[in-house]
Amino acid sequence: MTGPAGKREHWASRRAFVLAAIGSAIGLGNIWRFPYVCYENGGGAFVIAYFIGLITAGIPLLILEFGLGHSTQGAAPIAMGRIHPKMEWFGWVATGVGFVICTYYAVIMSYCANYTWHSFTLAWGDNPSDFFFNKVIGLTDATKHPWALGRFMPGVFIGLAISWIWIILSIWKGTKTVGKVVYVTVLVPWAILIVFIVRGVTLPGALEGLKFYLTPVFSKLAEPQVWLAAYTQVFFSLSVGFAIMIAYASFLPRKSDIVKNAFIIGTGDALTAFLGGLAVFGALGYKAHLSGVPVSEVVRSGPGLAFVTYPEIISNLPAPQLFGLLFFLMLLTLAIDSAFSLVEAVAAATMDKWGWSHRRSNLTVGGLAFLLGIPLTFGAGLHWLDIVDRFMNQIGLSLVVLGETLLIGYYFGSERMRTYVNGLSDFSVGKWWNACIMIITPAVIAWLLISEVLARIKAPYGDSGLRSQEFVFGWLILVLIFLIAFGLQGAKGKKAPEPIRNA
Ligand code: PFF
Repeated sequence: MTGPAGKREHWASRRAFVLAAIGSAIGLGNIWRFPYVCYENGGGAFVIAYFIGLITAGIPLLILEFGLGHSTQGAAPIAMGRIHPKMEWFGWVATGVGFVICTYYAVIMSYCANYTWHSFTLAWGDNPSDFFFNKVIGLTDATKHPWALGRFMPGVFIGLAISWIWIILSIWKGTKTVGKVVYVTVLVPWAILIVFIVRGVTLPGALEGLKFYLTPVFSKLAEPQVWLAAYTQVFFSLSVGFAIMIAYASFLPRKSDIVKNAFIIGTGDALTAFLGGLAVFGALGYKAHLSGVPVSEVVRSGPGLAFVTYPEIISNLPAPQLFGLLFFLMLLTLAIDSAFSLVEAVAAATMDKWGWSHRRSNLTVGGLAFLLGIPLTFGAGLHWLDIVDRFMNQIGLSLVVLGETLLIGYYFGSERMRTYVNGLSDFSVGKWWNACIMIITPAVIAWLLISEVLARIKAPYGDSGLRSQEFVFGWLILVLIFLIAFGLQGAKGKKAPEPIRNA
């Protein structure tokens, strides 16, 4: 959002920034990812770990990223480079992790676009599970031969192309259009979600699903995997560790209430996920009631969960075609402002570094992400998507967040950053923030990362065990991100880093 030679663009109003940041945070992560990660990690216990993660890491990191973007007025690579001249590469790692997430995120948007279309005929019929896995994504048997990728799914491909065109058009003119688009993309989905929550919790058998969701099995809290899933879901959901919030805050005017905004965005996002969970678990209870099996066994979990449970609710609503259409449009509008926030973040990094025009940056980033998403439009796409998602979230985001806490907490100084953000805000953050940034978050993340890496090495992938080539593939992407990041730090840029601004 900087012109090649011009002044940095700013948000039209504070409200535009808050809405854009909420729009980035609230996305498929709340309605598609949160429920299945929660389902896989024991329901109620996960919800507790999630809220602890939100307070001890999510909101403090949001404040950190806002402070970093605001003080350096740069997207992640320049921001990190201004904190320490040798750390620009680390900003590129954050940007790279976000970019990879965006490539598969658009594929989920494509599934939503396909379902919008299928809503007209309620094409999923009585067996939404079979419809999703066999007809929409063509997963049947493909995972047995994942390298062959399975059938090409034209519907998923067309949906992916449409999603990318829509994403790029939404940000064609930078902060000015984004500031307006987000009024629709934040407020409309909320209104529709309320209808789904009410229907989800009133379905017959819903109570069993809600019990699974809300009753914590405390012994689950002894499993590091549950905490890792919860903390990384918090990061994913708040869009922290993706380079997004740093870039968005870099467009803020000088006086901006960073602390209050971080609290509004953090709680708004968590509440949306929590309430969305009521709808999904209500529907799972209903499904268990129909099929006579416990909620914990009722569906094949994983990223397909939402595409099986929501159609179930939709078929049970009056005027199901209309609600189907509304619901999948809601998912698309939730997703679009998350996806374009990431394109903005990567584009801002290229504009900062090379002085590219807004249009050139957006088209390059969007075009590349579209091409990289194409392999996921084949039959084994969801399988690969799941692998990349796990590696990017559990390892990629965790590494970025860990690095951020160490760089700001110890090198820049957490007290110095706290003083900076408080100087801008009506509402101050207390010293507990230093403890979160310097001790709690890095300690928890380091512990979780170590146990996760050890667990991956011993029993790489869930129950089925990750095939060795898949395991290597996950690591390869991460290693590539680091290599490219080092290369980009060395690449010649437009100008030397500038000093940090004072509050
Ligand atoms: N916070 C977003 C969500 O919860 O859906 C995560 C996200 C994913 C943001 C992909 C941006 C993105 F490109």
